[in-house]
Amino acid sequence: MTEVSSVTQVGAGPRPARWSDLDRLRAISPMCDATIDEVRGRRIRIGEQWLADFASCNYLGFDLDEEIAARIAPEVARWGTHPSWSRLLGNPRIYLDIEERLTELLGAPDTLVLPTITHIHLSVIPALVGTGHLFLESVAHKTIYDGCVMARGMGATLQRFPDGDLDELARMLRATPSGETRMICIDGVNSMTGNLPNLAAYAAVARENGALLYVDDAHGFGVIGERHRDETSPYGSRGNSIVRHVGEGYDGIVLVGGFSKSYSSLLAFLALPTRMKEYLKLASAPYLYSGPSPTASLATVMAGFDVNETRGDALRAELYHKTERVLETVHVRGISTPNTSGLPIIELPLAPGVPIEEVGDILFRHGIYVTLAAYPLVPRDQVGFRVQVTAANQDDEIEELCAVLEQLADAGMLRRIDG
Ligand SMILES: Cc1ncc(COP(=O)(O)O)c(C=O)c1O
Repeated sequence: MTEVSSVTQVGAGPRPARWSDLDRLRAISPMCDATIDEVRGRRIRIGEQWLADFASCNYLGFDLDEEIAARIAPEVARWGTHPSWSRLLGNPRIYLDIEERLTELLGAPDTLVLPTITHIHLSVIPALVGTGHLFLESVAHKTIYDGCVMARGMGATLQRFPDGDLDELARMLRATPSGETRMICIDGVNSMTGNLPNLAAYAAVARENGALLYVDDAHGFGVIGERHRDETSPYGSRGNSIVRHVGEGYDGIVLVGGFSKSYSSLLAFLALPTRMKEYLKLASAPYLYSGPSPTASLATVMAGFDVNETRGDALRAELYHKTERVLETVHVRGISTPNTSGLPIIELPLAPGVPIEEVGDILFRHGIYVTLAAYPLVPRDQVGFRVQVTAANQDDEIEELCAVLEQLADAGMLRRIDG
């Protein structure tokens, strides 16, 4: 009896105080924890209100692509809706086709696909570092942090270094005993600022100190890629991620990415040496035990590779121009944003003292859907909202967004560059 009542009380008590802002926002804002009733292109309906969606990570618009959707049914007819096996038990051939295609696209030594990046961080970081030393960038994504904490629980040491502070990182690396495993964990394209790390400098520090550089480029894969003189935009070509974009090689780098953003599918990958892949097949729980990605996801990844090859660079050019239009409004109006890359993730902090729910209400009433970034999702001085542009956003939606941003700026609700 005692046991039952204590179990039923789990989660029923007061939440830690630091979650109270987000808890309140969830309760009162139509922009948070919303039920989406209908989707038409990049317009969504919440209750009676239609909104242009700028909270989507489907950067290339593959979620709405008819050529990609048409490829699901034949694969489901071939494999059923869901493969029955964990990957170690048995791999439908489509897995091997995906890894072969991905390895070629990335120009990597080899690739391993697992269901999600979250699965990868939680299982692969502990497996690779063992009882060695982790160096985690202060702004790295929460899922990387969780993987590092898991590794610490299994015997690794964990230190954090300030974002971009390569001198401090080098000092920390030199202070660890030589001969022990060291691993540096960073974001590729940052999910809030839209900016890239100085990957070449990180790779140099890692190599000089015999450390492995582990990079999560969830948001870069599909958007940025190798540079060419005839590229369609500064995002580069082929969308083959940050290592190729900055002209680095994979020596000493493990690249992690996912299909759940640009490719609109449920699958994720590591680019890694073959011997590490073979080791992870037995050391990483998702390969051994996890239910696999549904056939629809495997089919849309394969179709995504084809569309990326034929239309990807044209879509990236569209994405670039639409993003440029939004950033132009931001710059002309003197609105502050950390985005210096021109990539389609535009974070807009609020002016001091402006209530986030009020800004959320204005955006909602004007039919603009964004990601509200409340405390503690971001530090208090960065509370605001994040706009994400996709190639599927129509020009009229972009203009509606720009008009509301101008209105919020005129009302003094957005932080200014000079503020
Ligand atoms: C940088 C980064 N890494 C990992 C994830 C989680 O990816 P997945 O859905 O594949 O677990 C996200 C999702 O928001 C992300 O932004």
